Parts: sequence; C-alpha cells; structure tokens
Amino acid sequence: TALEPLCLSIQSHVVHGYVGNRCAVLALQLHGIEADCVNSVQLSNHTGYGHFKGQVLSGEDLDSLTGGLRTNGLLAAYTHVLTGYIGSESFLRRVVGVVDEIRDCHRAAGRPDVSWVCDPVLGDDGRCYVPESLVSVYRSEVVRRATTLTPNQFEAELLSGVSIRDLSGACEALAALHDMGCPTVVMTSSDLPEAGEGKMLLVASCPWEAVEGDSRLWPEGEFGLGDSACFAVRIPRLEGAFTGTGDLTSSLLLALGERQGRGKLASACLLAVRALQAVCRVTAEFAASPAGQARARAAEEVAASSGAPGAKAPPPELRLVQARKHITDPPQCDGVSWH
Ligand code: ATP
Ligand code: PLP
Ligand code: MG
Ligand code: NA
Ligand code: MG
Repeated sequence: TALEPLCLSIQSHVVHGYVGNRCAVLALQLHGIEADCVNSVQLSNHTGYGHFKGQVLSGEDLDSLTGGLRTNGLLAAYTHVLTGYIGSESFLRRVVGVVDEIRDCHRAAGRPDVSWVCDPVLGDDGRCYVPESLVSVYRSEVVRRATTLTPNQFEAELLSGVSIRDLSGACEALAALHDMGCPTVVMTSSDLPEAGEGKMLLVASCPWEAVEGDSRLWPEGEFGLGDSACFAVRIPRLEGAFTGTGDLTSSLLLALGERQGRGKLASACLLAVRALQAVCRVTAEFAASPAGQARARAAEEVAASSGAPGAKAPPPELRLVQARKHITDPPQCDGVSWH
C-alpha cells in the first residue's frame, strides 16, 4: 500500500519571521502534506537584520535526532525529503547519509523511491554565504542523489561550472547538472537578457516524461535539448527585496508537484510562480500601508541606534499567513507567463 505523503524538511528555523522551515512547513501543511522538521540552525531572526543570535545544530546533534527517529521506526515513513540552508560540510555529509538510509528502508520494503527536493543553498548575486568546501560536496555527493535541484542562477553556475549569460547558457548549465546525475533542475530565478525589461525567468529542465501531461500548455515556449525538455516562466520583478521567497519556492515545487501529479512539472512550476507573485504582492501592499510604514520606521530607528556601521532596516517579512489562500490556490497574475 502507498504511504501517505510525509516530508522530512531540513532547513533553518527563525523565532521571528519567515525563512527556511518557517516558510516551508506552513506551505507543505496548507497543501495537505505532513511535514516533520529538523532545524539546521535556530536563530532569533534571519541574517538580513544585521543582528541575530542563536544556535547551530551540529552533525552530532543531527545524529542524535535521527537516532531517535530510527529507534521508533520513523525514518521508514518519509516519502519526501526537502533540504535548504545547511551551513557545514559535516552536517551536509550526514544529511546525505540520512537520505541514503531512508531510501534503503523503502527499497527493502519494495516501495517507490523517496524524492529529494534539494535547494543547494550556496549564495546569490556572485557571493557565497556558506563555506566554499560545501560546493564540492554538493557536486560530488548531492547532485547525483537529488530528485529535483532548485538552484538560483549563481548556484547553477557554481555547481555546473558553466557560466550563464543567456537562456541557452542556462539550458547548458542545467544539462551539465543532468550529466552529473540529477534528472530535474529548476533554476528558481535568473537575470537573463531574454526575460525582457523588469522581468526575470524561472528556467526548468527535466526528462520529457516529466512534462508529457502538460504538453499542450504552452504555445511555443518549450524548447527541447536532446534528452531534456527545457521551459521557462516569465516573472514580473516587483520593487523591493523579499526574504524567504527561495525557501517558499522549493517547498511549493514539492507540494504542487505532488498535487499536479506525474508528467505535470511545467504546470507545477507555473502555479508556484503564481503563488510567489501573489505572496510578494500581499507583502508589498502591507509594506506600503500605514501599519507597514510605521513598522519600517521603527526598524530603521533600531538599526540607526545600534551604532553598527551600515546597519539598515531588513526587508519586510513575507505575509504568509495573510496570503494563505494564494498559497493553496495560486491566482492568475498579470505578467506571469510562459517564455
Ligand atoms: P535561493 O533562495 O535558493 O537563493 P532564489 O535566489 O532563486 O533561490 P529568490 O531570488 O527569492 O530565490 O526567488 C525565488 C522566487 O521568488 C522567484 O522565482 C520569484 O517567483 C519570487 N521573487 C523573489 N523576489 C522577487 C521580486 N523582487 N519580484 C517578484 N518575484 C520575486
Ligand atoms: N535561512 C536563513 C537563516 C536566512 O537568514 C535566510 C536569508 O536571510 C534564508 C534562509 C534565505 O531565504 P531566501 O528564501 O530568501 O533565500
Ligand atoms: Mg535570490
Ligand atoms: Na533556489
Ligand atoms: Mg535562499
């Protein structure tokens, strides 16, 4: 008998705000997927604040938690694994070990393979924010085990070794990641000339079977690259910065992929982008409201009085709870379209 979906989500936790597990767990649960979480770090708030305090879970701490799960026979219950921010090489190697163990349990029981949606969090906009030693572990151990990878443009370049200047470069980088062993890659954001003024692109590449149920969805946007189907979604770039959107995207790709079912990866991507666009709009509307502006002024005063050079107010937290209906039921959004 098929197991109910149950996801093990290994990401950061913040006391205040929405990044990592605080985004992912809510999104998964709103889609009816049970989510268990391991918090790779527990911080007061995300690192965009300038000040943050908290703890980092060590590799031994992870062993202790998975040991408890193992003893209770719970590792065998996971049908999905979702990973995000992981800050050390030893922790990442242990995560790989946990995924292998979960897969072994399923293999022994003759059940279908466990899917691993892996956001290979390394950095953004040309800057690495994890130790560089993680890059080679992702390349040699993680890429070939992941079912779906969700790098941003910078991460796709680092992992593939291909520099991405345009859409064909993007497809080349994603193809290199297939050659390294990952069947489906969704580059969650990019800055490419083909996007057009004020737009960015999500670019995906996958086996043709992963889109066969969506084959009549887009008029001419799909371009094959030999063994892979490659397609892109155009996203209107909203003013301002958002934090937690990458983590929300990977969790929604998992949840919407489940909901759409086999062969419908393209519609899952489109729906995820619609949900993100709606959440970002709700967040921006709140930021522009009197209550949002008062909050921003208070944050600026705190930053200014901290005395730290260059301290500035962080971007507004995502209005996830307020936008929950857009997460469960992504609306049509002006400007979101197939490329
Ligand atoms: P990672 O978190 O792995 O670094 P990422 O850099 O792709 O991934 P984001 O840049 O936050 O993460 O983008 C993820 C998604 O969030 C995009 O596909 C888009 O839908 C949405 N998004 C983020 N910022 C904006 C913005 N300024 N305007 C519109 N949509 C945005
Ligand atoms: N996790 C932590 C602890 C963070 O501080 C941040 C960003 O500041 C994130 C995750 C990433 O969020 P995003 O989804 O925007 O990439
Ligand atoms: Mg980004
Ligand atoms: Na990403
Ligand atoms: Mg991120």
